[in-house]
Amino acid sequence: MSDATLLLGQTLGFGQNPFHVPVDEAAHHRRRGAVLVQNGRIEAVDEADTLRMAHPQARVVDYGDGVICAGFVDAHVHYPQTGIIASWGKRLIDWLNSYTFPEEMRFDDPNYAAEIAKTYFDLTRSHGVTTMVSYCTIHPQSVDAFFAEAQARGQRVVAGKTCMDRNAPDGLRDTPKSAYDDSKALIAKWHGVDRLSYAITPRFSPTSTPEQLRALGDLWAEHPECLMQTHLSEQTDEIAWVRNLYPEARDYLDTYEMFGLLGEKGLYGHAIHLEDRERARLKEVGAGLIHCPTSNTFIGSGLFDMGGLMAEGQRVGLATDTGGGSSFSMLRTMASAYEVAHLRHNSLHAAQLFWLATAGSAASLHMEDKIGNLAPGLEADLVVLDLASTPDIAQRSARAGDIWEAVFPTIMMGDDRAIHDVWIGGTQAT
Ligand code: GUN
Ligand code: ZN
Repeated sequence: MSDATLLLGQTLGFGQNPFHVPVDEAAHHRRRGAVLVQNGRIEAVDEADTLRMAHPQARVVDYGDGVICAGFVDAHVHYPQTGIIASWGKRLIDWLNSYTFPEEMRFDDPNYAAEIAKTYFDLTRSHGVTTMVSYCTIHPQSVDAFFAEAQARGQRVVAGKTCMDRNAPDGLRDTPKSAYDDSKALIAKWHGVDRLSYAITPRFSPTSTPEQLRALGDLWAEHPECLMQTHLSEQTDEIAWVRNLYPEARDYLDTYEMFGLLGEKGLYGHAIHLEDRERARLKEVGAGLIHCPTSNTFIGSGLFDMGGLMAEGQRVGLATDTGGGSSFSMLRTMASAYEVAHLRHNSLHAAQLFWLATAGSAASLHMEDKIGNLAPGLEADLVVLDLASTPDIAQRSARAGDIWEAVFPTIMMGDDRAIHDVWIGGTQAT
């Protein structure tokens, strides 16, 4: 046990889903707890005194009142949009054409892709995001750049080549065959290497022909070990466009279902304006619905039905949607999820928000046995939160009666200053 490290502080994790059982049963909080880290994994989580006694040789890092929790899991991002985050004044389709596509063109250059990947990982580390699921661009070199940077940092990430063969500018379109061939080659190159996983990635129905969706559905059938990610029912004019492009489809989800792109390991970003049939099918297959609240307010998309979807037992993850989303921070994203739910008369508990950003997102990726929680055997991706990171937050958390009242001001007002430390795969990353 000589290389064991004992992290001391408050500890916060989940035994169960706080949307399904009372918070006190779902969450585990220790006022003076400890996490034993060894060989990149969490070995034990217990009272500080207990673990200190049992492991007297372990190196000790004492975070005092800091809250040790799982690193944040961002279930839907576009790392190539790092440089155009917070671009003004457009709704989805105009925003894609005006800002996104011109920027994504630049990833033809592998040096530019590598530079943005580095910037993206530096920024997200400062926000305590230890796993993310990213769209790349149509260029295989954009996938190579992302995975290479993640691999160098020892991170668990998911990513895929974005496939588009229509309704995108020259230079930003592939074909059904090249999308299939390039994606297959990238799976062989990266999937399962270290902590890297590949996601088959049709951007969304409007930018793929039926032939391309079918080719990618076939590829998913050949590689069921991979996740598949796409967008679903984000804006009403997008949905109307899909109806025109696919007149034979029953609804938006059907444009994926018809081509083998609906499944348990499918991640459907946004999922705001869903019809009853879509909700029923998503629930039936156990697909992941990824809520991107800062994006939904920033681009003006609508209000995700967190209360209703959770009550139905849907699998839901939380995400920034960088750079349609307006922040790299999962704290800011939790705050936005709170506000969006409130506009639907649903007050999310701090524990529910925290669960969404960690264990819930991990479960949406089918990775709850690897990341997103404080539990023995999980990979040691950890964040240490300072619950008094600014004077504004400190004066409020000082009055807190319990851990959730202490955490909530950091959720609502916190940013990268609240991220006191980050551990990635058992190594201190800051
Ligand atoms: N729908 C298709 N592509 C995108 C994208 O890049 N961002 C968002 N928010 N929605 C999309
Ligand atoms: Zn997106």
